[in-house]
Amino acid sequence: MSDVATREKVSVPLADRLLGFPAYPLADVPQIKRELSARGVDVIDLGAGDADLAPPPAAVAALTAAAADPAMSRYPFQLGLPAFREAVAAWMQSRFGVRLDPFREILPLVGSKEGIAHLAFCYVGAGDATIVPDPGYQPYVGGTLLAGGQPWTVPLRPENDFLIVLEDLPAEVVRRARVLYLNYPNNPTAAAAPRAYLESAVAFCRENRILLAWDNAYSEIAFDGYRPPSILEIEGAAEIAVEFHSFSKTYNMTGWRIAWAAGSAEAIAALARVKNFVDTGQFLCVQAAARAALESYAAWVPGNVEAFRRRRDALVGALRSAGLDAPLPTATMYVWFPVPPGQDSHGFARRALLEQGVVLMPGAALGPGGEGYLRAALTRPAERLAEAAARLRALL
Ligand SMILES: Cc1ncc(COP(=O)(O)O)c(C=O)c1O
Repeated sequence: MSDVATREKVSVPLADRLLGFPAYPLADVPQIKRELSARGVDVIDLGAGDADLAPPPAAVAALTAAAADPAMSRYPFQLGLPAFREAVAAWMQSRFGVRLDPFREILPLVGSKEGIAHLAFCYVGAGDATIVPDPGYQPYVGGTLLAGGQPWTVPLRPENDFLIVLEDLPAEVVRRARVLYLNYPNNPTAAAAPRAYLESAVAFCRENRILLAWDNAYSEIAFDGYRPPSILEIEGAAEIAVEFHSFSKTYNMTGWRIAWAAGSAEAIAALARVKNFVDTGQFLCVQAAARAALESYAAWVPGNVEAFRRRRDALVGALRSAGLDAPLPTATMYVWFPVPPGQDSHGFARRALLEQGVVLMPGAALGPGGEGYLRAALTRPAERLAEAAARLRALL
């Protein structure tokens, strides 16, 4: 005892790279929510893109059945379940008309965040840059920093339809850039990219020998007849692009941690090499379940999208009635709307949480380019979304 009391306090210094690391968005919210709930506050959480809807019954049944087979408890390695890769290839072909080799051009991931973050280790080193949308999904920044590179953030502005204007990038940055991260339908702005933009992005990356990381996590959550494309539909993309897809949003399987990368065989092989040292593949039972989810796509996904559409209409209508200027998104599970005049995004979101029990994403938490906006996710039933919007009125 006395030994502990007299011992000098020692701490091991952290690596320099962690010192400049940004805080992860909403990282402190679960703790604040617990405290509010303990005080009896009825919290409505529209922060993370983590819907309360159920996954497809076919996925749950396949998971349960697979768990009874001892072979499914063994290491998956990067190969994973061959039938999963084949189901992904079949779906990519039927959904986008893109033909892929399931074993060379597809890789199972432990959630697409994992693959997105690890991709930088394949292409980025000291002195290299990546081109990153701001606001944007933070693993583009985090992966670059972990790999020792410099993220070059480009503000997404409404006057440019929330697209990165590739012609405006400084030549010096383009010269050092190794990866261009693009995400349409976009989190958080809900913007969609026209096909001509995809073509120009492929041409730009081919010309400058930059890997195009196309994050298509929201390709299936689209409304009013809009069908988001795959970058792999574009001529010439196969050599320079990798596309990320996830079960998290399409199938309400955020916690299952299952996704895939598809595209350039070289990039897929490089990512598998990195992942060999980090993970040993996603649980085979989860891969079996994901295969079943894909096979239930035609029967199940339209109803899920319809549930998000009803939520979208309810939330946008209620925000407008509350006096907030909310546009109607054509895709994603987010409504991206301006902060009321005279307030900033962090301040408004904090007041929404502490005074009204409503969790929103402050735009600036996703990069300084997001200042002036708030993001609300369609993660709760329509009546709760309407209730949340009504509570916000008190903050105007
Ligand atoms: C743009 C974008 N990409 C990728 C993901 C990652 O999803 P997951 O890691 O659950 O597959 C998300 C999740 O919020 C996202 O918003």
